[in-house]
Amino acid sequence: MTQEIAVLSTKPEMALESPAVRKVFVKTYGCQMNVYDSDRMTDALAKDGYVSTDVMEDADLVLLNTCHIREKAAEKVYSALGRLRDLKKKKAGEGREMMIGVAGCVAQAEGDEILRRAPAVDLVIGPQTYHRLPEALKRVRRGERVLETDYAIEDKFEHLPAPDKAKTRARGVTAFLTVQEGCDKFCTFCVVPYTRGSEVSRPVAQIVAEAQKLVDGGVREITLLGQNVNAWHGAGPDGEKWGLGQLLHRLTEIEGLARLRYTTSHPRDMDDSLIDAHRDLPQLMPYLHLPIQSGSNRILKAMNRRHTTAEYIALIARIKTARPDLALSGDFIVGFPGETDEDFEDTLRLVETVGYAQAFSFKYSTRPGTPGADLEDQVPEDVKAKRLERLQALLLSQQNAFAQQCIGKTIDLLLEKPGRMPGQLIGRSPWLQSVNVDAKSSQIGDIVSVRITGAGPNSLFAEVVS
Ligand code: 5AD
Ligand code: SF4
Repeated sequence: MTQEIAVLSTKPEMALESPAVRKVFVKTYGCQMNVYDSDRMTDALAKDGYVSTDVMEDADLVLLNTCHIREKAAEKVYSALGRLRDLKKKKAGEGREMMIGVAGCVAQAEGDEILRRAPAVDLVIGPQTYHRLPEALKRVRRGERVLETDYAIEDKFEHLPAPDKAKTRARGVTAFLTVQEGCDKFCTFCVVPYTRGSEVSRPVAQIVAEAQKLVDGGVREITLLGQNVNAWHGAGPDGEKWGLGQLLHRLTEIEGLARLRYTTSHPRDMDDSLIDAHRDLPQLMPYLHLPIQSGSNRILKAMNRRHTTAEYIALIARIKTARPDLALSGDFIVGFPGETDEDFEDTLRLVETVGYAQAFSFKYSTRPGTPGADLEDQVPEDVKAKRLERLQALLLSQQNAFAQQCIGKTIDLLLEKPGRMPGQLIGRSPWLQSVNVDAKSSQIGDIVSVRITGAGPNSLFAEVVS
């Protein structure tokens, strides 16, 4: 599973004006794993003298890091490529070269088609081969159009450079760290097992070394990432396979690492040791993204989720017993083939029963190559739209109710970045909410005690308590 976030572009890290400096503009679509990958690609390119820019027109290389999870996400790539073709032409007229690369899940799934439909594209590179990016660009400079979508035999993480201290600092006090890639679950709606391949877990030593580097660069909170992160089973230093609970324990030994999170998880992979970690590790934040997708057992079966609603509800109860202040987040799909009004009502009932602090919900999007695409009984678009509207209204009311419950509470806040108003900072609550508070910028990275005084539509307000 991947959690959808807003479209981002990487921040500029240096503004060197030397003509020898090459500039790369990276546009990231989709989930946090892509955000992490974009940074790692930028780091790999730094060795070749590339610095990142947030002005596309200035770039010598434009990289689109793409998402294939729903049809709309994939379509965005082709419209972006149309605009890039015009920019490339304009720059060529001015005697300036611009290379265009497509990375990410659309590259992996539709590499040949991209090269066929978009002649301006110089390079297509899949997520398993990002460490080969500098070499691939050399081939482009020699006049080749490059397609790199094979699954690499070598471990890409061993070959991708970790960010240096200065870059880590510039990226802030929270960081992502991919520990697992791919998925073996094969939910019938999902492209991930095809675009990201089968599950691969990074070894403990590699993860700990990267986490230590991040902390040395000022990071206070790390979110471990994986398409199915709680299926992580990496090689431990003792030669045994470790589980995520054990890994979290090990990471809490890193001095200065104040907070840990992980996303995103499958209910079937919440083992006892991971649930116990929620009880035993104060550094593990009381917030869990645990999607169920539907509240109907019939639809869960058709989705190949391999659990029932009753099992999910019982699991949540166990996790909340371990960590009573835990807030839940989830993903939902409406209009999966065959979903009746009754099935949808079951989803609304489940949401009422469980109660979510936050959730993401989507209309089912048919993905070619997945079993769901061949099912009869596809739900009409207007029915999906109406169901989504009702579900989102319910989820929003739960989110607002959760925010209201926070008012008056005293919580620990990690001060993250400057706020909109002078003298204000934005921090992150244990439950991943943005919180505005008056504080000095020298306090960024500190964890302070604050009292929540109010709630707006997207963030909370608080005052520091001494
Ligand atoms: N259609 C709609 N939503 C989907 N998701 C995954 N595949 C599809 C699809 N074909 C949603 C799931 C998943 C989230 C990242 O995206 O809810 O958890
Ligand atoms: Fe996709 Fe299911 Fe795997 Fe999540 S668990 S990535 S939804 S196949």
